[in-house]
Amino acid sequence: MSFRRFMELALHDPVDGAYGSGRLRVGTKGDFVTSPSMGSDFAALLATQLAEWLDQIHAEAPASPLSLVEVGPGEGDLAADVWAELHRLNPAWIGQLELVLVERNPGMESRQRERLAASAPGQVRWTTLDKLAADPIRGVLVAHELLDAFPVERLIWRDGAMRQMGVVLTSDDAGQKVLHWDDQMLPDSIQQQLDWADRHCGISVPPAQVPEGWTTEWHGEVAPWLEQVAKAVASGVMLIVDYAHDAERYYSARRFAGTLLAYHQQQASDELLADAGCRDLTAHLCIDTLLAQARDQGWTVLGQCRQGEALLALGLGERLHNLQRLPATELPQALQRREALLRLVDPAGLGEFRWIALSRFPDEPRESELISRCLEAPKGFS
Ligand SMILES: C[S@@+](CC[C@H](N)C(=O)[O-])C[C@H]1O[C@@H](n2cnc3c(N)ncnc32)[C@H](O)[C@@H]1O
Repeated sequence: MSFRRFMELALHDPVDGAYGSGRLRVGTKGDFVTSPSMGSDFAALLATQLAEWLDQIHAEAPASPLSLVEVGPGEGDLAADVWAELHRLNPAWIGQLELVLVERNPGMESRQRERLAASAPGQVRWTTLDKLAADPIRGVLVAHELLDAFPVERLIWRDGAMRQMGVVLTSDDAGQKVLHWDDQMLPDSIQQQLDWADRHCGISVPPAQVPEGWTTEWHGEVAPWLEQVAKAVASGVMLIVDYAHDAERYYSARRFAGTLLAYHQQQASDELLADAGCRDLTAHLCIDTLLAQARDQGWTVLGQCRQGEALLALGLGERLHNLQRLPATELPQALQRREALLRLVDPAGLGEFRWIALSRFPDEPRESELISRCLEAPKGFS
């Protein structure tokens, strides 16, 4: 089968997939950490940006209901903490706001239901993008570390051509089943997508002078997803936060083995076929491709920046400073929060994540007027 199909099954098979079975755990005690799983400061900072967008969307139609949607909520930490912070901020529209979660894996959804039962009883619903398309929302949609878990095609340069990589199951001499790599001619459907990337973003796959065996990825599922989300959002903003490189870096001849990694018990590995169904498999996004695909689907690009810039613009520095005011009895918590806050902006780690803000206001093209504090890099930040 193609690697894309393998990744689909390894992550999302309802019985054997890492997410599908609910086996994979997000958090400091799980398989990998994400920004919201390290404490509630990330969600609190993000909530101020979401509130700013919701203020502006509400002002356009003050009597209409508002929605905050998270697609791919994982353990539900981000949704629960953002919801709590928005209630603490208590904006005028809070009574009109609903929390909507979209999760494809039942194993994850049941943990989200537990996590949110206490935090947002009665105000949260789980649904699908298709159902939302029948009654599109006004509000903000967040996709935090979602798209890196979308199955990708793995491509290899061999014998003067790009080829599609696949996974084959055979038996070794001892009769043990083993998975190994194979490759075949690139199907026309993938070649057409690469031709699209060349025409729209000037991306050549492969770039000039790649060595034999050069490997990369193609995210074939992102464009259809952007189209689906566009149908689910009548008016509002979408924030995508994820690992991402611009095209020049992504499709560079020097990036010999692409960006795919497997995560298990806080360890990253390039053994993508090992322990299938027990590990998270992730690939970075290509920013140029994502932005071009989003525009193609009717989204307007509000802007994009690094997480470090976004969080500092939203007040991470002040939050760090205010930890000094905590009483001595709270020293252990203060030190833990300090460490988490520094990790969120670490340029060698989570600080390099991209925040990509897109909007859709079909009735009134007012995106350029939309204020987005997170996209205004604080002075002196580089
Ligand atoms: C890496 S986790 C991110 C969790 C959370 N957003 C965070 O940052 O802590 C990815 C989540 O997306 C879910 N997921 C993956 N593909 C999805 C899809 N197509 N639609 C909805 N959820 C999806 C997974 O089951 C999981 O809950």
